Amino acid sequence: MKIMVMGTGFVGLTHAAVCSEYGHIVYAYDIDSSKINGFSTGNPDKIEKYVNEPGLSDIVRDSNNRSLYFTTDFKTACDGVDAVFLCLPTPPNLDGSTDLSFYDKAVNDLAKELNHRKNKKRIVVINKSTVPIGTARHLLRIFKKHNVDNIGVASNPEFLAEGNAVDQSRHPDRVVVGCDTEEDFKILRRIYSQFVDHVRIKYIESTPETAEAIKYMANTLLLNYISFWNGVGARIGEVFDNVLIGDLRIGVTSDNRISTWGSYVSNGAGGSCFGKDVRSLRYQMSQRGVDTTFLKAAYDVNEYQKKYLVDRAINELDFMFNNKRIAVLGLAFKKRTNDMRDASSIELIETLLGKGVEEIRAFDPLANEEAAKCFNPHKNHLFSRINYFTSIEEAVSGTDALFISSDCEEFRGISGVINRIVKPPYLIIDGRRMIPDCDTLVEKGFSYVAVGSKSLKGKNK
Ligand SMILES: NC(=O)c1ccc[n+]([C@@H]2O[C@H](COP(=O)([O-])OP(=O)(O)OC[C@H]3O[C@@H](n4cnc5c(N)ncnc54)[C@H](O)[C@@H]3O)[C@@H](O)[C@H]2O)c1
Repeated sequence: MKIMVMGTGFVGLTHAAVCSEYGHIVYAYDIDSSKINGFSTGNPDKIEKYVNEPGLSDIVRDSNNRSLYFTTDFKTACDGVDAVFLCLPTPPNLDGSTDLSFYDKAVNDLAKELNHRKNKKRIVVINKSTVPIGTARHLLRIFKKHNVDNIGVASNPEFLAEGNAVDQSRHPDRVVVGCDTEEDFKILRRIYSQFVDHVRIKYIESTPETAEAIKYMANTLLLNYISFWNGVGARIGEVFDNVLIGDLRIGVTSDNRISTWGSYVSNGAGGSCFGKDVRSLRYQMSQRGVDTTFLKAAYDVNEYQKKYLVDRAINELDFMFNNKRIAVLGLAFKKRTNDMRDASSIELIETLLGKGVEEIRAFDPLANEEAAKCFNPHKNHLFSRINYFTSIEEAVSGTDALFISSDCEEFRGISGVINRIVKPPYLIIDGRRMIPDCDTLVEKGFSYVAVGSKSLKGKNK
């Protein structure tokens, strides 16, 4: 089949690459010509500059010029197409509702182009982005307004998690498809033929609205679960004596009704989706008169987690951030990605600079470059106090405290490095509980504050 993918971000590029592996001819189209030029080269550095996902640049390189074509030429991409996947941004408006302007623009362009097509075979336009419930029907109305014949609009939400996108696209837990007609279901079944009747992967067919709702319900439920561990589990470990958060987690999740995923306490979950989707669902439901206290709580707990450790260091260990040098390890929203969208490090660094920190010495194995764009001194002059380093050692050197802000493997068990590079009194703030042998550091005079346990003041020598 000839498939067009509109939008080559994290979702679109991954989907285009994996679809080409299924044996389809894929035209990946984006309005951002620098991305398209980079992807067309097949050069891993030029691909990973935009989307850094394990294994993705290999597929792009291997399929380029065979079954995967990158283009900014809309006509070529649309010509003779069987299906169009929309993988476009759906950012939040200030009130939490979803900004559908990228969608409206893209679909109007598409409608005009498809209206002139000679071959009037059935085409399905498929939403892969996370869009408000009812968007597929809204798009169908746009196509009807432009008198586009023989077209269907389907919903096929994406569930991939960044850092593992290729693997999850090749082996998803489920494929959810919402269509209005059997004809459209058939086209989707041809696209995903290897997943239909799969022994392990659930292939779920329903209405477009149900498919849209499944995505929101899944994401908000996941954030609720994360926030429950952070807002209840972590607090229990922090305020009661002798409650060990690791054992608490094992004890609770040993019940096979309770998931281990999401049970790790942290300085908040970031990424482009959770916060935005919870706010959007809240908006959609409150517009229909539903009380959304539950969704608000999940969101608020998550935001609180991103910076509350700074206050704990002040209140529990009398640490003053004014004029201090602080190392921040981990800038992207999680390990194995360079994606800075809604990363916990953003709230954290803004909070630290607001407390008068003199220098932030930052390190992330993949995201330094993206972080430098995000913390642009032209947006906020205080960002000029951030310097970026290419190793943990360099970032930590000469600092008064360090903050572990993401779960990169490199940060696990770094007590040896700390011991070697800095001397007590020194404060370690651990947003990911990465230092299991923190007691030995405390014995040496280092102070330690971590999510999920009581603060430990360094022993005086
Ligand atoms: N990133 C994730 O982990 C993830 C997971 C599941 C679902 N989603 C959802 O998928 C959607 C896309 O997310 P993303 O992270 O890939 O976004 P992204 O911002 O990385 O990519 C979007 C791309 O669309 C392009 N674009 C904008 N307007 C266009 C147009 N008119 N024609 C062609 N291209 C256009 C942009 O240039 C950009 O490259 C969002 O709704 C998001 O919520 C994201």
